Amino acid sequence: MFSIYNARMTSSPFSFTDGAYWQRLKKGQHERLVKLCKPARHSAVLDMTAGLLQDSLILARCGYQVTALEHNEALYKIAQNALARFTEETGFQDTSARIQHLLTEATEWMADRHYDVVYLDPMFPEREKSAAVTKEAQLLQRHERPAEASEEQLLLKQALAIASKRVIVKRPLHAPFLAEQKPSFSDKGKAIRYDIYLTPA
Ligand SMILES: C[S@@+](CC[C@H](N)C(=O)[O-])C[C@H]1O[C@@H](n2cnc3c(N)ncnc32)[C@H](O)[C@@H]1O
Repeated sequence: MFSIYNARMTSSPFSFTDGAYWQRLKKGQHERLVKLCKPARHSAVLDMTAGLLQDSLILARCGYQVTALEHNEALYKIAQNALARFTEETGFQDTSARIQHLLTEATEWMADRHYDVVYLDPMFPEREKSAAVTKEAQLLQRHERPAEASEEQLLLKQALAIASKRVIVKRPLHAPFLAEQKPSFSDKGKAIRYDIYLTPA
């Protein structure tokens, strides 16, 4: 079933050049996540839970070198396909070239260098219940289950070991801290909260 999403497929369940996300991508500098990465401007970011690459692409558009890890093959191929079409349609080759997209289990992936910022956006069960669930979230939920507590702990432990400046964790506004670990500070929006762990702790 995964093979239907090959990189040259023309009809796809997902595109970066649709609706609200495309507008966000064009105005990338104003994104909260981009501002939170600022101490490491134009440097290396590791996205350990890449999903559909929406966050990775915004960071790459703003000049960050992004290594994006995804362990679900179907989601990896959907995102790869969308990235190939994005490059062809928009001509933003420099943006796409800043993303190294890898199909791998992040907790087993051995970083060959340190990253300034490590970003985590694990699946969260509450998203399934939300009335305002986006079509991207539905696509993610169709292919992937929420992380187990032990996986969350491992992801955060590894992220803290790799990041030389900070780890940024995306959470629903009222969600508990990832792995029950208190961050250095939080940045709260209307629906999303970013928890920032300064490293070394
Ligand atoms: C909520 S989505 C991330 C969405 C992403 N930030 C975006 O902009 O599209 C979480 C993703 O992380 C992936 N994931 C979760 N745990 C992982 C792990 N241990 N290694 C690699 N990928 C993982 C899931 O398969 C899922 O695609």
